[in-house]
Amino acid sequence: MLLGVNVDHVATVREARKETEPDPVRAAVLALRGGADGITVHLREDRRHIQDRDLTEMREKVRVVELNLEMAATDEMIKIALKVRPDMVTLVPEKRAELTTEGGLDLKKSGKKIKKAIDAIQRKGMPVSLFINPSITDVEISRKLGAKMVEIHTGLYANAKGIRHKAELKRVKEAVKRAIDIGLLANAGHGLNYINVKKIAAIKDIRGLYIGHSIVARSVYDGMERAVKEMKKLIGE
Ligand code: PXP
Repeated sequence: MLLGVNVDHVATVREARKETEPDPVRAAVLALRGGADGITVHLREDRRHIQDRDLTEMREKVRVVELNLEMAATDEMIKIALKVRPDMVTLVPEKRAELTTEGGLDLKKSGKKIKKAIDAIQRKGMPVSLFINPSITDVEISRKLGAKMVEIHTGLYANAKGIRHKAELKRVKEAVKRAIDIGLLANAGHGLNYINVKKIAAIKDIRGLYIGHSIVARSVYDGMERAVKEMKKLIGE
């Protein structure tokens, strides 16, 4: 099972100060050293974290493993995808006010727009994955629209407590199974962390997991002690 590491929030910290650090491309290179099988970046329409130059540079540095571009199905983003040529594209819904991608794509409402994006991108040899809710219907519509892959939204599973947790896990499992049965590649992601990942990773047929926030958060904790020690040493000198 592949691990795609989403480094958007490294850029979120940088953009908070409009500085050059921390650099998501450098973080991506370190993630690869840690064993990441792929890097994901979400180029949002409002460019709140990843910038166009990050994506271009990411493409130069992330060559051997999969570069996954998350984007909305808009003409602007299609044009960028065709130019930058990531290894795959994940289409996500995008709302300007949201803190993160809140739900899967609304395939019924936006089917036409999504199909247009799938056709344009896959025609140029890049597989498209649709970020969808864990719903059998949405899996089936994804196939009809022609996508090669789906990414099952694990956010509800991640946030659910008690018996809801079990029920949400079941929905993810069923959606993955249906996707595989009808010939799609099935990925999963959103809200996965060091505690809740195990049950999702136990779903054997999943091709890849896409994880961002918890890994970026952990890297702050793991790096803080060393960073402070080094600063103290410099001050002492
Ligand atoms: N998959 C998709 C499609 C996403 O939009 C995101 C968030 O950018 C992720 C996975 C990663 O989610 P998280 O940051 O909660 O791990």
